[in-house]
Amino acid sequence: PRKQRLLVVANRLPVSAVREGEDSFHLEISVGGLVSALLGVKEFETRWIGWAGVNVSDGVGQKALTKALAEMRCIPVFLDEQIVNQYYNGYCNNILWPLFHYLGLPQEDRLATTRSFQSQFDAYKKANQMFADVVNRYYKEGDVVWCHDYHLMFLPKCLKEYNDKMKVGWFLHTPFPSSEIHRTLPSRTELLRSVLAADLVGFHTYDYARHFVSACTRILGLEGTPEGVEDQGKLTRVAAFPIGIDSDRFIRALELPEVQEHMKELKERFAGRKVMLGVDRLDMIKGIPQKILAFEKFLEENPRWRDKVVLLQIAVPTRTNVPDYQKLTSQVHEIVGRINGRFGTLTAVPIHHLDRSLDFYALCALYAVTDVALVTSLRDGMNLVSYEFVACQASKKGVLILSEFAGAAQSLGAGAILVNPWNVTEVAASIGYALDMPADEREKRHLVNFKHVTTHTSQEWAATFVSELNDTIVEAQLRT
Ligand code: UDP
Ligand code: G6P
Repeated sequence: PRKQRLLVVANRLPVSAVREGEDSFHLEISVGGLVSALLGVKEFETRWIGWAGVNVSDGVGQKALTKALAEMRCIPVFLDEQIVNQYYNGYCNNILWPLFHYLGLPQEDRLATTRSFQSQFDAYKKANQMFADVVNRYYKEGDVVWCHDYHLMFLPKCLKEYNDKMKVGWFLHTPFPSSEIHRTLPSRTELLRSVLAADLVGFHTYDYARHFVSACTRILGLEGTPEGVEDQGKLTRVAAFPIGIDSDRFIRALELPEVQEHMKELKERFAGRKVMLGVDRLDMIKGIPQKILAFEKFLEENPRWRDKVVLLQIAVPTRTNVPDYQKLTSQVHEIVGRINGRFGTLTAVPIHHLDRSLDFYALCALYAVTDVALVTSLRDGMNLVSYEFVACQASKKGVLILSEFAGAAQSLGAGAILVNPWNVTEVAASIGYALDMPADEREKRHLVNFKHVTTHTSQEWAATFVSELNDTIVEAQLRT
């Protein structure tokens, strides 16, 4: 049978472009959980629609980029600099992102943010309309249109206004916060209403779905049912679809000579020391300063470990035009420098902090040689790094220390050591516990998580979402 056509609409395309000449671009794989998971989806005839992360305002450039992206089955939405600034840097990453992760509005400039709110929200709606225009140009009857994330909460409404027969799903990759938080957003009503235009609305966990439904009942006064949200007889289906990874891709990669070579180098480099690993975008939600402070406390209290453990922290630069991210970068550098100064020797430092991304093979090798992975997100939709680590640990059976505020705590909680990342004393104690854990306990914990990660894959996640979307539409037709 022919594969179903799927239009994946997300702000971030799986490749980001860097302009090299008048009509040439260099394409790089984008970093982030959304892209990682969706790249694992194979059973549909997929087209991506989104932003390539670069401002191209001239016709020659736009034509060249469109052509280069077409080979990757990607269709660009061109956003100009001003829109990117107000919609992406401003409304998405300065307002919605911190709010949905319970971090409140940016500390520094609360009033300025309040003042620019309306113009940023207008830009947000305008940008969403631009995505809708591109979808509409490529849409063919029968296509499934799957909208992703907090950047595109206005999109379902725009799409249904064009064509109310379009099958529209929307999935949120971040937490959806308690209605008490969502209530503070000036645009709270409009955002909820436009999401509800979708046929199916999905979240990583049951909690996030429940928060969304109660926001709709409390703020919009609609009726919440076990199925979703009802408005004058029209049902928007709401459900949880926990995301996963393409676990086979990681397991297979470990056999490759390139990866084996990397592993060998790493083992030699850190011989005689236990390796602890953090892999995060350099984002406030990841709790990187908290993680490093906990590691410091651990070293402080356990002198015998000082020359026997190393923390490798990969911190991928992200959203570098947003002031809070710039501040975080210098804050983290300051703390790392201080701790390395305090506990380092002439030949070794306790923390290796890298402000860069790694290629897939290097990342797999790192996951595989790690003894203890540290995921200390203050809030995180799911956190796929924890899944990827587990997938690469079949032989080492290392320990995962995982924040209870990551969505993944609900699926990997059985095998991981769960911690409250705000509690530095608790995290420091967990580091000690993890480093000393006997092999049989490590094995037991690893196996439960490995089983979960290899049976709850991104392929299944996507298949379940799309099939639920198709069913929802059939059921709606039966009702009328
Ligand atoms: N990642 C990457 N290169 C790097 C570091 C991370 O491609 O150098 C990927 C990582 O493999 C994972 C994703 O970035 O798939 C991060 O996803 P996660 O859900 O953990 O967090 P997010 O960045 O989406 O908040
Ligand atoms: C998170 C978001 C994604 C986003 C990614 C990277 O995973 O849920 O939507 O793509 O971070 O952030 P960026 O701003 O670079 O797209």
